[in-house]
Amino acid sequence: MKRLNSAGILIALTIASASVNAMTERQQWIQPLQPAEIKNPEKVELGKQLFFDPRLSMSGIISCNTCHNLSLGGVDNVKTSIGHKWQAGPVNAPTVFNSSLAIAQFWDGRAEDLKAQAAGPIEAAVEMAMPHTLAVDVIQSIPGYVEQFKRIYGNDKVDMDKITDTIAEFENTLVTPGSRFDLWLQGDDNALTADEREGYDIFASSGCVACHNGPAVGGTSFQKMGVLEPYVSSSPAEGRFAVTGKDAERFMFKVPTLRNVELTYPYFHDGEAATLEEAVDIMGRLQLGRQYSEDELGKIVAFLKTLTGERPAMALPLLPASGDKTPRPEPFR
Ligand code: HEC
Ligand code: HEC
Repeated sequence: MKRLNSAGILIALTIASASVNAMTERQQWIQPLQPAEIKNPEKVELGKQLFFDPRLSMSGIISCNTCHNLSLGGVDNVKTSIGHKWQAGPVNAPTVFNSSLAIAQFWDGRAEDLKAQAAGPIEAAVEMAMPHTLAVDVIQSIPGYVEQFKRIYGNDKVDMDKITDTIAEFENTLVTPGSRFDLWLQGDDNALTADEREGYDIFASSGCVACHNGPAVGGTSFQKMGVLEPYVSSSPAEGRFAVTGKDAERFMFKVPTLRNVELTYPYFHDGEAATLEEAVDIMGRLQLGRQYSEDELGKIVAFLKTLTGERPAMALPLLPASGDKTPRPEPFR
């Protein structure tokens, strides 16, 4: 190696620290997503099977994947979700991709984490409509499941705690690193086009980052929908108020992640914004008092599309057969 004199070392150090500074500056608001760390592959695999298993629903045809379709963007792409007996739910399904990074789960944050969240949809009347006791009976009656629970937990007693524990473990692996924006955050100047770069500059300088920040570009706080102008919606959802009962938190929602937002249309808790352009226009006016030009909207949308990461590619899980005594589905109950 060529030896550097002290001036050379100084220059080298200055260049190094300048590029470190440039990098930390790039990552001031949004940080790259890290790949999932899989600690217990057997538990992840079982959680994946349960995520895809429609036998956790009364009808026998609705699984978590029905509304959080992992072949799509972890969503159902309808305004508000359709559940048991074709009932319409009150809100739009948020994506399960990167949801492990959020401060809490649901639009109003009423579940503190993924494990607490997973129990909800199974018994929700407008989702899977399956009483927990029956869900446990079904899983307990399937020998291929019991054997896996026994291997993972050391005993073969199935309960909701274990079911939701494995589903949450699987969901923790649903991260989408490697987007072009992440490459840029990590120093690759060529990862973005000039328009996409400009779009990010507008996004950052006009203040979108005040709410959409962190590795998930959201999920770090609850914020009012309609800061400067009220948002008019026919949805009954009241946001954080439903959890805390505080009047000031009426219409405050968890700031959604903008990771993979290109795939998670339609937008907002009521699913009323059909396109990204529409959603960004509304955000600019209602949250920041900014009326963007067509050109600006186009650039912001171009930037948002660089947040599409690598969705986990996975083999379709093969589910164990029901036993003779497994309670049968009741699609019309
Ligand atoms: C009928 C459609 C439907 C089914 C089935 C369903 N979900 Fe959901 N899911 C939703 C909707 C709608 C929401 C938003 C509800 C709310 O915020 O009040 C949601 C919210 C979530 C969230 C919170 C994401 C966030 O960012 O806040 C997670 C995680 C989730 N579901 C996982 C699951 C799991 C696991 C299952 C299976 C046990 C499941 N869902 C079944 C529609 C569904
Ligand atoms: C004051 C906080 C705040 C600011 C500033 C803000 N947002 Fe949002 N954003 C939110 C909240 C809260 C929601 C969810 C609102 C709802 O569903 O009713 C949201 C939703 C969105 C959505 C829809 C995502 C989805 O999955 O439904 C997009 C896209 C979005 N914001 C982009 C932007 C852009 C672009 C800017 C800057 C022009 C911006 N936001 C500024 C808080 C904010």
